[in-house]
Formats: sequence, C-alpha cells, structure tokens
Amino acid sequence: MTEEASSEATLSNLLREERTFPPSAAFAEAANVKADAYERAADDRIGFWEDAAKRLAWSEPWHTALEWNAPFAKWFVGGKLNVAYNCVDRHVEAGNGDRVAIHWEGEPGDTRTITYRDLQKDVSKAANALHELGVRTGDRVMIYLPMIPEAAVAMLACARLGAAHSVVFGGFSADSLRNRIDDAQAKVVITADGGYRRGKPSALKPAADEAIAGTGVEKVLVVRRTGEDVAMTEGRDVWWHDVVDRQPDTHEYSTFDAENPLFILYTSGTTAKPKGILHTSGGYLTQASYTHHAVFDLKPETDIYWCAADIGWVTGHSYIVYGPLSNGVTQVMYEGTPDTPHQGRFWEIIQKYKVTILYTAPTTIRTFMKWGADIPAKFDLSSLRLLGSVGEPINPEAWIWYRHHIGGDNAPIVDTWWQTETGAIMVSPLPGVTATKPGSAQKALPGISVDVVDESGKPVPNGGGGYLVLTEPWPSMLRTIWGDDERFKDTYWSRYSDQGYYFAGDGAKKDDDGDLWLLGRVDDVMNVSGHRISTTEVESALVSHPSVAEAAVVGATDPTTGQGIVAFVILRGDAEQGGDPASELRAHVSREIGPIAKPRQILVVPELPKTRSGKIMRRLLRDVAEKRDLGDVTTLADPTVMNLISDGLSSGKQD
Ligand code: PRX
Repeated sequence: MTEEASSEATLSNLLREERTFPPSAAFAEAANVKADAYERAADDRIGFWEDAAKRLAWSEPWHTALEWNAPFAKWFVGGKLNVAYNCVDRHVEAGNGDRVAIHWEGEPGDTRTITYRDLQKDVSKAANALHELGVRTGDRVMIYLPMIPEAAVAMLACARLGAAHSVVFGGFSADSLRNRIDDAQAKVVITADGGYRRGKPSALKPAADEAIAGTGVEKVLVVRRTGEDVAMTEGRDVWWHDVVDRQPDTHEYSTFDAENPLFILYTSGTTAKPKGILHTSGGYLTQASYTHHAVFDLKPETDIYWCAADIGWVTGHSYIVYGPLSNGVTQVMYEGTPDTPHQGRFWEIIQKYKVTILYTAPTTIRTFMKWGADIPAKFDLSSLRLLGSVGEPINPEAWIWYRHHIGGDNAPIVDTWWQTETGAIMVSPLPGVTATKPGSAQKALPGISVDVVDESGKPVPNGGGGYLVLTEPWPSMLRTIWGDDERFKDTYWSRYSDQGYYFAGDGAKKDDDGDLWLLGRVDDVMNVSGHRISTTEVESALVSHPSVAEAAVVGATDPTTGQGIVAFVILRGDAEQGGDPASELRAHVSREIGPIAKPRQILVVPELPKTRSGKIMRRLLRDVAEKRDLGDVTTLADPTVMNLISDGLSSGKQD
C-alpha cells in the first residue's frame, strides 16, 4: 500500500468512530470556560486576548495589543511584567503562601513538599546566586538537569532576572548540549551530578563537562542529587548548595518589556541543525496561563494537577512551569520512569496525592495498555476528573482505554494539539463544552484561527484533508528562530506566503462536523514517543561514523512509540568487515544525539533508492521498513535498487 493509501485507511477507520462523549451536566456547569468564550473571541479576537492578559499582573499596561509586521509579531507592546513574580510572589501576596506548589516525588521514593512561600524563597536565592555568577538581563543560561525541583527554580530565577533560559533535555548527549550552548552563546550552565532513572543514578555532569569544554561558558552551577563523585573544574564549577543556599531569601525584581526573551527551546527541523525557538514574556505567559485554566479547567483551591512530561520539552515549560504556576496550582512532579520500581508507579502516585488532572502522552498510554489494565485496577484512581493527551495523534483504542481504565468512564479527555513553536495549546476540546470524539483534537481554542488547506492554500471542505495552517497570529507564537530570521521565514511562512499563513508541518482532515483529526508530520520529521527527531539529524550522526558511506533514515509506524527510527546504511568499502556494525552504529547515534535518537533498527544495504535528481526516496524505504508492498518505483534512477535492498534485507544485518 502506498503511504497515501495507508493514511486514507487509517483515516477512514478513524472516521468510522462515531461515539461522542459530552461532559456531565455537573462538569459543564462548574467549568471555568463555557461556550460563550468562542463567541467573545470570534467577535473581537484581540480584545479576547487582552482579557486573558489581564489575568496576569503587569507593572505597566500595554499600549498596543498586537503589532503584526508579518511574520514578526509583538504582543502587548509597551507592557511590563515579571514572569517569575506572576508565577510565584503574587500567590504569596494573595495569601496563598502555604499552598503547596510542588509535591515532588523522587524516583527512589524520597519526596519534597514545596509551598508557594518556599518557592518564593528558593527562586529569590537562586536569582541572587545567578546574579553573583554574572548573569544579567538579556543573557542566556543553559539548564541541563533531571526532573528535580531545582529545574523549575532555575527557570524561574532566570525569568526573574530577565535572562533567557534554554533547557536541554537530560537525555541529550554532550554534543547536542554543546551545539546548543554555542548557538545560544550561553554564559552559565546549570546542571547536576545526575538523576535517578530506572532505579539507578544516571550521571549528567560528565556529559556537561564534555559539552562545555572550549565554549564561552564562564560558570557552571551544579546541583547535588545523586551524591556520586564528580569532577569540579576550579574557578568554573560551583555547587548549588554552596552558592545558592547562602543567599538572602528575598530578591528585588525588576519588570521587563512584554517582548523580553523568556526562553529558547531547541527542536528538530528538517536539517541537521536544531532550531532555537524563541519565546518572549507577556504573550507567551498570557496564552500558557489562559489555556491551562481553560483546557484543564484548573481550580487552584482544590485540584491536584500532574503533567508527566519532562521539563526539557515544551510541554514541561508551558504545563509544568509557566501555565500551572501562573495559575497558583498544586502539582505533582515526578523524577523517574513509569516502571520503577514497578509498573504501577504512576497509579500509586495518583492514589497517594489524590491527583485530579493527569496530562500525558499517547505513547505512555499505549505502554500502559501493553502492561495490562489489571495494574491500574489495583489503585484508587477515583480522584481523577480530567485527562489530557499531547505529543502525537492518539488512536481511538488508546483514547477509549484511557477513558475507561484510568478515567473511570467519567473524566473528560482533552486531546491537545500544539508545538514547541506555538508555545501553548492551539487545538483542543474545552472539557466543559465539547462532546469529545476519540482520536480528534477537534477545534481551535477561542482566540485561535486554524484551517486545513490544500497545496494552493485553499481551505478544504468538511470531509477533506490537507495541511494544517494557523491563519492569524497568536500571543504565544514563536518570535523567530534564534539568530536566524531567514530560516524562520522560510520554514514557517514561505509555503503560504500569499495568504500569510503559518505552516505547521502537520497533515490534518476535517470531518463532516468540521472537527480536526491530526494525521502526523508531512515533512522529514519523525515523532518518536511524542518527541520530534529529524531524519537528517540522525543521518548526519550516522555518516559521521568512519565506517558509514551513506545513510537514509525513516520513521516507520510503531505500535507503542508512534514511529520508530529505521536507518538504512551503506558501509564504506574499506570498513572493517565482521563485528556488529548495527549495534556499534546505534551506540554512535546515542553518543552523538542522545539515546532517544537511537534507531530501532539498522539495515546495512548495498544501495539506496534515489530519484534522478539524487533525492533519497524515503517513501520507498518506509514501505520496506513497514514491510508494505512497494509503490511506484518508476521515478527511481535505478529501479533495480529496491530488489537489491530487499535482497539485502533478507540476508542483511538487523539489530
Ligand atoms: O506533529 C504534531 C505533534 O507533535 C508536533 C510538535 O512536536 P513538539 O514541538 O515536540 O511539541 C510536542 C508537544 C506539544 C506537532 O507538529 N503533536 C503534538 N500534539 C499532538 C500532535 N499530533 C496530533 N495530536 C496532538 N494532540
């Protein structure tokens, strides 16, 4: 089957899904946001976002809500605020200092309870310490930490000083960290000796050291988490407990322009070089905060919220740190993996803290399905009243399983579509309004304008498919790619430049009701366990190995991770024969990018299928990887190549 035919088949399965689940009358009645929000936003989109911005504290009001010099946006121009003040201090000032901000659960079972008052002190001390280490407004600070409270504290401390942070997921390699440090020209790195993963300490500092050598980094602030021995470089490295703990626990903050950079978060594009997505302060916080309030129906007095993402991804930024904390919620933060020390760890945590709202990824849900429904059944999950999904399309089976076995057939599910670039949720049901459909992200949120268009930019009718576009600017939109306005314009705005649409890179369909069904990426970006990895990035890691002549990488459908990475490599003639090239190459990719980019499978092949212009025909490779019939190969420069590959497959090395 061709790729198109297979996605058609998936879609028609999806569209046969006719069940809908309206919220209960009680849920709808008590919901934070009701149907009138759509009308209000449709009447006056900008005014709607101004109302949302007024949920925050500003030291100076804006004079212009939106300045749009397409594709460059400025929101709330002239307004001033301090993002950390909005996430911490104002809750203490409102009399909620004793409310728990974070119930932190370490993987080994150690816990910390941090109130908003504690958080205010911790963030103030960290801000004082960063200032002492030379961090000033406008600087960049790299954060390379496990899921410990210091990660959130460090982000907020940067925000408090008006310095931009760039969090790098702890699973990324030294090379990945170094590239990001260089690109962002970071001055300070905040890291840890390590963290706990799968029951063992997992070191971070050695990778940080390798990354930092030879860069412009002046100071390294190191959190002690595991207590394992680490090398400290004299004059450069200092311990968090030495420098932060002795600081005064108050810090006089300044307020910054709404467009002051808040963070740079790197994400994979279609080239080997990751893109530094730049987010600024006022618009980003407005939308992160509003969507968290609207989509998760968050009641700060009573809810216990848990977003099970890592702080190294955008979900952790917007829905662990900025959205929830700006709304003054109590949340759970967990350090480790879902199967440590047993496969019921998530459910044990939910039972223990009486979690009411859970936000996780389809890949995690499918893993739980694989482990069996009897595991969650052993725990009391009756506190859950709302479930969220993010990162990739959720298949109806997983959606129904989530609803039944986790949500007790009672909690609405919000399937939230958004991207690192969008900064906050864009398409999602509103839990008190929408009758949800398993597998559909459904509708643009109030104040957001999306469409599905064909190649020429014409909206497709209901029942049709095409490309997802955002047709109007939104407050938490990326402002540019750090240091590369041209790439920003080219990647997102050139495809529909006539219409002025943002091209999201996702395929989508509208069903007969006009509801949206996301169909995955349409570019050379894979989605593995909800993480974006570019095929070119993995290819360039592979060809950097001395024994590889050429490599082509595709994302093949995977029942658990959404897509799995499959690499086709041609070895150099002079490469040593024998040994186990596949496992050596997998380890090499892991060293170059990080374990998340390790190919599921490496196939050593004699040739790669190419068009006459030399472009690798990934579609054919995907067919091979997914063992589908080969589609049309007449555009191949050498059609016999596919036979060579298939022959190679039966005899070739698989890992
Ligand atoms: O393909 C879409 C998919 O994840 C991409 C964005 O990845 P990233 O920037 O890493 O952010 C992930 C967390 C927001 C999108 O282009 N995606 C994300 N959420 C969904 C989704 N696909 C379908 N349904 C979703 N709910």
